[in-house]
Amino acid sequence: MRRSASVLILMWLGVHVVLGQTSPVLADSDRQAERQALVQSLSGVAPDLMIDDPDVRAAMLHVPRHRFVPDGLQDQAYLDKPVPIGHGQTISQPTVVALMTQLADVDSTQKVLEVGTGSGYQAAILAQLTDQVYTIEIIEPLAKDAVERLANLGYDRIRTREGDGYYGWPEQAPFDRILVTAAAAHIPPPLLEQLKPGGRMIIPVGPRWGAQTLMLVTKDQAGETTTESLLPVRFVPLTSKSLR
Ligand SMILES: C[S@@+](CC[C@H](N)C(=O)[O-])C[C@H]1O[C@@H](n2cnc3c(N)ncnc32)[C@H](O)[C@@H]1O
Repeated sequence: MRRSASVLILMWLGVHVVLGQTSPVLADSDRQAERQALVQSLSGVAPDLMIDDPDVRAAMLHVPRHRFVPDGLQDQAYLDKPVPIGHGQTISQPTVVALMTQLADVDSTQKVLEVGTGSGYQAAILAQLTDQVYTIEIIEPLAKDAVERLANLGYDRIRTREGDGYYGWPEQAPFDRILVTAAAAHIPPPLLEQLKPGGRMIIPVGPRWGAQTLMLVTKDQAGETTTESLLPVRFVPLTSKSLR
């Protein structure tokens, strides 16, 4: 009884103990404790935009964010800030990932498209909620790295494609949910077309590096869309020949 209590306390302190060994390994290689602290600290950005969905919080707790940031920057993985991933791109701030996921309101029967794979982290979070995740990245080396990273982590159901996500993924459309993780000057019409009746799209809209707004687009059963501005944000630009 006393031994199991002390093992629990050591594990709580982030110390990994192998029973039967005399010295504990002083490293939480999975960084569970840091992840837990991050998730506990995530609150929201406004009273009506609190991060309180238990499935989203569980997903954030499960996915090892440090495996999605470059070597050398892993100590920044559990800070609530974006982290550079190369090629001028970033893995989004955890609060933003959690909020976008919560706003998407994904259930396990739904098909989700993400535009802007980046590191693959947002796709991995979505894959905790549904098996049908499709993600597109325009920068070839990022797309290749994400495919390899997601496979190494066992996310074998996420479908990744290199290409211009402005045009969506017509062969797999329609989608119940669409998340765009780069800011566009306008909502891409092909994405609106590929959104199912009853669907939701979360997308930052605004000028490159300027004042952008996170928007929620809903499509009713008759195919009518409604757009709601949620909060000011700052995302890297969606790059597309249609936006030049
Ligand atoms: C903020 S990062 C996304 C972070 C990513 N969701 C993650 O979890 O790491 C935005 C990404 O969108 C990509 N991107 C920009 N324009 C795109 C486009 N037209 N189609 C697909 N990806 C695009 C960028 O190359 C970048 O990787």
